[in-house]
Amino acid sequence: MRVLIIGSGGREHAIAWKISQSPLLTKLFCAPGNPGTAQLAVNLNADPNNFQELKKAVTDNSIEMVIVGPEDPLVNGLRDKFESDSDLKDIIFIGPGSCGAKLEGSKDFAKGFMQRWGIPTARYKSFEKNTVEEGDRFLESLRAPYVLKADGLAAGKGVLIIDNLKEAKSEMREMLGGKFGSAGNRVVIEEYLKGIELSVFVLTDGNDYLILPEAKDYKRICDGDKGLNTGGMGAVSPVPFADEAFMKRVEERVIKPTVNGLKRECPDYKGFVFIGLMNCGGSPYVIEYNVRMGDPETEAVMPRIKSDLLAHLLALGSGNLGNEKIEIYDHTSLTLVMVSGGYPQEYAKGYPIEGLENFRGETLFHSGTAVQEGKIVTAGGRVLALTVTESDIIHGRERLYNLAGLINFKDVYFRRDIGLDLI
Ligand code: AMP
Ligand code: GLY
Repeated sequence: MRVLIIGSGGREHAIAWKISQSPLLTKLFCAPGNPGTAQLAVNLNADPNNFQELKKAVTDNSIEMVIVGPEDPLVNGLRDKFESDSDLKDIIFIGPGSCGAKLEGSKDFAKGFMQRWGIPTARYKSFEKNTVEEGDRFLESLRAPYVLKADGLAAGKGVLIIDNLKEAKSEMREMLGGKFGSAGNRVVIEEYLKGIELSVFVLTDGNDYLILPEAKDYKRICDGDKGLNTGGMGAVSPVPFADEAFMKRVEERVIKPTVNGLKRECPDYKGFVFIGLMNCGGSPYVIEYNVRMGDPETEAVMPRIKSDLLAHLLALGSGNLGNEKIEIYDHTSLTLVMVSGGYPQEYAKGYPIEGLENFRGETLFHSGTAVQEGKIVTAGGRVLALTVTESDIIHGRERLYNLAGLINFKDVYFRRDIGLDLI
């Protein structure tokens, strides 16, 4: 099987790492990939959002399966374009079409979907410019803090949690006035859920599903989950509080109705579903859906999958996921994201990364790196996602932070408390 992974981050490097171990693989490609994926795959110069470039990459290299890493190509209809092109329609495409991708591309659609299928979520209403006063009334009916979400994709920045009612009303106006561009033409306002978050991942062929290992993401820049929101500063899998009884509730109350709802509303959903959950006193509530894997959760999840992911994806492609059994290692994975100083705000790029030679064969995933004059340098906010697998979190943390000490680049920053809250 000749496989192409679309994307260029740590998530795609981790998927490439897992797929590259499959005996079913003949050749692996990434578009555009990064210096990390280059160690496992052939990187192709094609933009994930440029259909003609991707089509050329796929046909020139006789690709048989495409796995899409990030959400925007999916929300922009990449799968639909593959299916309606006579040269590409037989390629196994892992990722939903534009109907299914609305679960991530429109928060209003996602909330309506949950309501239609009885999936537990926070009470909500959506507002547009001409209903802003009704928005005020709805805010007044809620208790602080207030949760405001831009309906469309806003690069992970479209959710605001505000303590003060007056400020919430004024933020709603700013969002509707274009603060997040057209993504904020509609604003979802919802009840605040108090609890602990976790990310659950499902692979579905539209009928059946496999539940992948769950993970906890560390979203804020500073220890103790303080400071600005980021794309994710670390991850741990498994999540100790997601025990068998809790995961059974997730399966019955969330996963089954989600797959069933998709079957009815967006048939042929083939791909990953990432369910952002809040554990509210033992009951799962859905915060959001994504139609892809999480980053950095994937970097912690992939090393926990024992069975052959490529075999599962092949079964998914032919609608036979129901015959698959996923095998999962008992060990704990911890991922630490090493970022450029200044991230998630302004940061510099192009600093040489020292110590990479210590990591041959380790799961050191590249998130934002580039090659400059023959050296690997920083090229993004999130630079590296270092992952260890150990018997438990305490041993994992020890090894994680020892290994992190072997890497250096100017102004490197990382959180010191990954996994600490779960011990
Ligand atoms: P999202 O972009 O939907 O993942 O939201 C970003 C973050 O905002 C989530 O990871 C949660 O931490 C938080 N959040 C979103 N919705 C709610 C809610 N209804 N109650 C509490 N926190 C929320
Ligand atoms: N780590 C959260 C996300 O990938 O959206």
